[in-house]
Amino acid sequence: MSRIVTTFPLPDGAIELLRPFGLTGPDGWRGALTEAEALLCLLTDRVDAELLDRAPRLRIVANAVVGYEHVDRGACRARGIVVTNTPDVLTDATADLAMALILSAARGLPGAERSLRAGQFHGWGFWDYLGADLNGKTLGIFGMGRIGRAVARRAAPFGMRVIYHSRTRLSTHDEAALGAEWVDFDGLIARSEVLSLHAPLTPQTRHTIDADALRRMRPGSFLVNTARGALVDEAALVDALRDGPLAGAGLDVYEREPEIHPGLLHLPNVTLLPHIGSATRETRTRMAMLAARNVHAVLSGASPLNPVP
Ligand code: NAP
Ligand code: GLV
Repeated sequence: MSRIVTTFPLPDGAIELLRPFGLTGPDGWRGALTEAEALLCLLTDRVDAELLDRAPRLRIVANAVVGYEHVDRGACRARGIVVTNTPDVLTDATADLAMALILSAARGLPGAERSLRAGQFHGWGFWDYLGADLNGKTLGIFGMGRIGRAVARRAAPFGMRVIYHSRTRLSTHDEAALGAEWVDFDGLIARSEVLSLHAPLTPQTRHTIDADALRRMRPGSFLVNTARGALVDEAALVDALRDGPLAGAGLDVYEREPEIHPGLLHLPNVTLLPHIGSATRETRTRMAMLAARNVHAVLSGASPLNPVP
């Protein structure tokens, strides 16, 4: 009998840790839910009341990513099921990718690469392929949590000035250490030359960047999103990239993944990545191991390492 089911293949270390409890892999997980006490899952697995009703013995949903908007936490709480996630271990990889998108947006990498591949590079041209400097520009961060702070730390050596807006203001000490200035939301929108999103998707943050916010952004500014697609009204973003004020964007996440707004696909001033923020071998292994350790803790009668509220 399997006390644990996983919706995705686990690395060897996690299999070794969990095998003694009985483990069913991705091929048979749905069928084994009836007996399962632990579910390891991903952001592409909707964990709702209907699924939980098929898993009456479940004690833990170990979500092997950091975002957990796909898990009905109310339904879990009502059934006494612990929900865990994998914070910290993916912070650097995701912040690295945000920085890559900031650089790509500012230097117009997708348009330049597309042009070269289309045979339009006829040699070095003084006024060709001009992007924008990062040095001296203002980076706005929405959501100054683990990843937002890691992006602020990366932006400083590029000479960027950092402003931020977040649900909770940092201590004066932390603001000074990061060199980050607190602003209200309107200030963030009005002053950011590059705006990078790092808040979770919640009812409060859905469409934070809507048509009105986009209209109020600086002419020639850039938007980068490595958080969740639905923080942005994608149709309004297409308009802002096509008609201004945005000069470009870098996106790793989309409102209706895996669907991409068709307008985005045709714009040369957007870098589009397939949700790869944490996609390094080392980081994904750490995420799977942390999810496995949460399951091991709960099934061994200990407290979960990373419970979410
Ligand atoms: P985190 O440490 O919880 O940081 C989130 C920050 O957003 C916190 O400072 C939080 O404020 C703030 N926030 C929450 N609600 C807000 C609101 N209504 N308005 C303004 N700020 C708000 O999370 P993290 O580890 O940095 O991850 C952030 C998000 O990145 C995740 O939720 C996930 O969706 C996304 N992510 C994406 C990838 C990817 O592959 N692209 C990888 C990892 C994570 P408090 O301090 O008050 O809580
Ligand atoms: C990935 O998107 C995550 O939330 O970890």
